[in-house]
Amino acid sequence: MAALARTNSLPNSLSMNDEAEESAFARDVLKGLGARRKNLPPKYFYDGAGSQLFERITEQPEYYPTRCEMRILQDNAAAIAKLIPAGAALVEFGSGSNKKARILLTAAPVLAAYVPVDISAEMLEQEAEALQRDFPRLTIRPVAADFTQSFELPDEAKAAPLRVGFFPGSTIGNFEPHEAAAFLRNAAKILGPNATLIVGADLIKPAEFLNAAYNDAAGVTAKFNLNLLVRMNRELGGTFKLGTFEHHAFYNRERHRIEMHLASLKRQKVKVAGECFDFRAGETIHTENSYKYSVESLGALARGVGWLPAGVWMDAKKYFSIQAFTLAPDAPALRP
Ligand code: TRP
Repeated sequence: MAALARTNSLPNSLSMNDEAEESAFARDVLKGLGARRKNLPPKYFYDGAGSQLFERITEQPEYYPTRCEMRILQDNAAAIAKLIPAGAALVEFGSGSNKKARILLTAAPVLAAYVPVDISAEMLEQEAEALQRDFPRLTIRPVAADFTQSFELPDEAKAAPLRVGFFPGSTIGNFEPHEAAAFLRNAAKILGPNATLIVGADLIKPAEFLNAAYNDAAGVTAKFNLNLLVRMNRELGGTFKLGTFEHHAFYNRERHRIEMHLASLKRQKVKVAGECFDFRAGETIHTENSYKYSVESLGALARGVGWLPAGVWMDAKKYFSIQAFTLAPDAPALRP
């Protein structure tokens, strides 16, 4: 009987994955908090609660990027959709609520498949179901993956004559520039010959607008940032006291980036993932950057890994850009 119970409680493949994910989280936390300048990888923001908080950030009045980008997509849907030929597969990196893809899907011809790729499996399934209701004839093939790593495309997307990548939300700005280049190289490899990539990128602008966008008055961005502590407490036995850390976000003009930090308000020790970490008063955990680009600087980065400019669309105030690229036939990423 005991043996049976034991067999029944063997981890199935799902909980194996959960365990593997949890140990990766523990490993990354120990590495990040052990560093001289404490930091954490931003992908851990997106647990269920984090993904929901993120959706709320995009609705805040100060947070202009989502509204700007939606507007650009709506106003130029037909022109942008011309880059998506009939029979192509559309692959979205970091699909989240997929409300931007809906605009493209409405304007695009019949596709081989729409492939939303997101690290939050929970969000991915829910959103795919909702999308299927609204686009009953669309072949939707969600992939739960970390798109900074290589992953397999579903068969329908591989079989399509070509693939178009969609990377909205200025997520490219959340990478270090060398990581953004690596992403663009990886996207080229995943999408393959004749690919097009449609990227949403936030533009360089006066600091006052940027600082306001990442310090919304309702405190949703702060809550999103602090949710990392909640998650470490829950999943890694952390002892972070929420009231003793504060959200700090500011524009670093030299490096064209918003920096997000969690600042310890006092000297303290915190235990997490089995280790103890000292915080000085005012010491921060650097949780995220959001780099701002110009059309030229993103174009140069893309060109460096074989993506050639194929179109740029902006809002009237030039706050935000949608930039399209096509893969050069001799792009290094295409070589075996
Ligand atoms: N990529 C967007 C940006 O940099 C959205 C985003 C990612 C974000 N992480 C964030 C916004 C953290 C606020 C806080 O703006």
